[in-house]
Amino acid sequence: MAHELSVIVTGGASGIGAATARRVVAAGGSVGIIDLDGERAEALARSLGPSVIAHAGSVLDEEALGAAWRTLSDRLPPVNGLVNCAGVPPVPRAIEDYPVAEWNRIVESHLTGTYIPCRVIGSAMAAGGAGGAIVNLASVLSFRSGPVLAYGAAKCGVVNLTEALAVHWARQGVRVNAVAPGWTDTPFLRPKERQGERDLTPILNATPQRRLMRPEEIAEVIYFLLSAASSAITGATIPCDGGVVAGSGWAPYGGFEGAPAR
Ligand SMILES: NC(=O)c1ccc[n+]([C@@H]2O[C@H](COP(=O)([O-])OP(=O)(O)OC[C@H]3O[C@@H](n4cnc5c(N)ncnc54)[C@H](O)[C@@H]3O)[C@@H](O)[C@H]2O)c1
Repeated sequence: MAHELSVIVTGGASGIGAATARRVVAAGGSVGIIDLDGERAEALARSLGPSVIAHAGSVLDEEALGAAWRTLSDRLPPVNGLVNCAGVPPVPRAIEDYPVAEWNRIVESHLTGTYIPCRVIGSAMAAGGAGGAIVNLASVLSFRSGPVLAYGAAKCGVVNLTEALAVHWARQGVRVNAVAPGWTDTPFLRPKERQGERDLTPILNATPQRRLMRPEEIAEVIYFLLSAASSAITGATIPCDGGVVAGSGWAPYGGFEGAPAR
């Protein structure tokens, strides 16, 4: 029997989450979107057709998320996937100018915002007995530091949480993996209203492929991790970064425009 995907995508109104919704629908699956931006989620659902249902809400409110889960799971085919894309962009700042409130806001958004849907929806999938797959969103900043302190720490935490839950639910057939995108062309990186303003040169210089990633490329790997094609993979975090992590030791040798002089 074909493996019909029925997937909850948090943060699915925009960027990587929206591309994931499109990819799952293109393969004949169903999607429930949970996003703070209800209007945008609704518009995407309308454009993708009846196999997509939108629900406005925050992943940070466990009770509301439980209600969203009950509503969506009643209307969707049996849910066998969860993709945690919800999160707010961080602002780079030195620790001296980084108030604890801002630290908490970003850690909560990215780490707790992954934990709560795993707790509510992952636990339900594990208890349901039919198994499933969870894909969390890590980052190149899970592996390398940057001046977005809370974001890097939270994304590092997402890798550890992914491994812990992969082991915890292994026998129940719930696989838990993560993708670690490099800089990806979404509103998170470049808000629409300020598209032309961000100088992309430093990002391109840090990316061996010399380009931004496209949300569809990240969605393709997420789709693979949701699908039965990745049945042996659990607890993994897969870089989707055009070589950023691999290339991060090249700067002292002049970068990666060519092989070092002999
Ligand atoms: N774009 C990049 O360069 C990049 C790189 C690495 C990792 N990521 C990660 O990928 C994920 C998706 O990023 P994106 O680029 O698609 O961002 P995006 O801004 O395009 O989409 C994020 C979505 O999350 C929603 N959201 C935010 N907080 C929420 C909450 N509390 N509850 C429900 N919805 C909420 C927003 O409304 C938005 O629709 C994030 O975790 C981000 O950290 C992005």
